[in-house]
Amino acid sequence: MEVIGTIAELRRATGDARARGRSLGFVPTMGAFHDGHRSLIQRSRADTDSTIVSVYVNPLQFSDDDDLARYPRTRERDLGDAERLGVALVFAPGDHEMYPDGDPVVTVDPGSLGERLEGAFRPGHFRGVSTVVAKLFNAVGPSRAYFGEKDAQQVAVIRRMVRDLSIPVELATCPTVREPDGIAMSSRNALLAPEDRDAAGCLFLALTEAAERARAGERDAAVLVAVMAREIGGTPRARLDYAAVVDDETFEDVRTIAGPVRALVAARFGNVRLIDNLVLPT
Ligand code: PAJ
Repeated sequence: MEVIGTIAELRRATGDARARGRSLGFVPTMGAFHDGHRSLIQRSRADTDSTIVSVYVNPLQFSDDDDLARYPRTRERDLGDAERLGVALVFAPGDHEMYPDGDPVVTVDPGSLGERLEGAFRPGHFRGVSTVVAKLFNAVGPSRAYFGEKDAQQVAVIRRMVRDLSIPVELATCPTVREPDGIAMSSRNALLAPEDRDAAGCLFLALTEAAERARAGERDAAVLVAVMAREIGGTPRARLDYAAVVDDETFEDVRTIAGPVRALVAARFGNVRLIDNLVLPT
């Protein structure tokens, strides 16, 4: 496995692989691997000839300096995992390599899709995500790129960016990997105080309650939102940011459930913010 820190070397390596006719699978990450990341890597390994993983904690997508400083970094363990999983190349650049002139002047504007929900609570977040993912796509030149459904709005933003900017890459979305008790795996789970770890179960509980009500025939999105807000709002130590039921493509609120819709929740536990989502049965 090669570990590369510069875009020039990365381009040389991926250019060689492409010239040999190999398909390239790409998994962008911020490191601190858990089984969610590993599932994306395994899927890429199964689908493509060479898997490239990037490990870069992108300052541009953090609106809070403390959150960026606290973000877990486990480089050596991540490299060991990547090697064991059969990754061909890890791209682990420093900030100077990605943003040599400091904050970039030209960025990708994710439009209104990037301003809703997560975008409303984390101003500039999706601009930072879209910009770094566009840069990584340009540096790697992958045939396919893998993203987790856990960050469903991120998938919607990247999908729209790829379409609107005609980026030649195929996107694959992989299901959310969960702990045995249902909590979605997240690098931020490691930052939770033990009592908050238990409280965090309310997110998946709220989503499954909404899904059960939808399965039983409830079509009024406001009722489902209220069910989720009650579950999270009634959990000591949980502070609800939002509960929503949205169209799975546009991420706009729906009133009545007809087509494919997704329930989304976000809450804070101490100073750790967690998100989760689930497609609702129609
Ligand atoms: P990060 O949070 O490290 O996540 C990397 C990828 O793993 C994302 O596609 C994310 O959706 C996926 N993932 C996280 N938890 C998951 C879970 N429980 N099950 C399945 N997949 C999961 O998302 C980012 O990094 C960054 O925004 C990035 C795209 C790398 C741009 O900086």
